[in-house]
Amino acid sequence: MELFEAIQTRSSAGRLSEPGPDPQQLERILAAAARAPDHGRLKPWRLIVLDRAGRERLAEAVVAARARRLPEPTPEQLALEREKFWRSPTLVVVGCAVQRDHPKVPEVEQLLAVGAAAQNLFLAAHDLGYGVMWKTGPAAYDDGVKASVGLQAHDHIVGIMHLGTRVG
Ligand SMILES: Cc1cc2nc3c(=O)[nH]c(=O)nc-3n(C[C@H](O)[C@H](O)[C@H](O)COP(=O)(O)O)c2cc1C
Repeated sequence: MELFEAIQTRSSAGRLSEPGPDPQQLERILAAAARAPDHGRLKPWRLIVLDRAGRERLAEAVVAARARRLPEPTPEQLALEREKFWRSPTLVVVGCAVQRDHPKVPEVEQLLAVGAAAQNLFLAAHDLGYGVMWKTGPAAYDDGVKASVGLQAHDHIVGIMHLGTRVG
């Protein structure tokens, strides 16, 4: 696909199903993400591909975060929260590992580099024919959720990227 066509035809995929990208395709998608512009060459992005256990850890952390935010969550609300992480075949958390007090590259520029990486990931997956949904939500800002994917409290989750085959 030509670049302008990829940019113009990109859109969020509301529903995703199997298959997701195969391992080689996923490598290409992640390599494209890592070609983002990056002041100071800090490579602040963390491209965390979740296997089954990783997905479970993330889902449980999101449920715990939701339970902390809601005074009395119903089991249905918590089950819905958990279920959201099983709706796509491939899940990549795009994190920003912040170097605090860097002498040349402020935190906002590190975040911008990771935003660019997330967009590269999106366009690369789209170019290979896959649908993508970029998600955050309140859970992305929760320290327990960050810890569940190996990030520290001062880091950021820039996107929880759902990849798969577009439905509809
Ligand atoms: C940083 C960021 C966070 C987002 N978080 C969510 C989200 O939590 N839930 C959601 O439905 N969409 C989320 N989106 C996707 C936007 O809603 C979507 O891109 C927008 O509606 C435009 O639609 P399009 O991507 O089809 O052009 C997010 C997008 C970005 C860039």
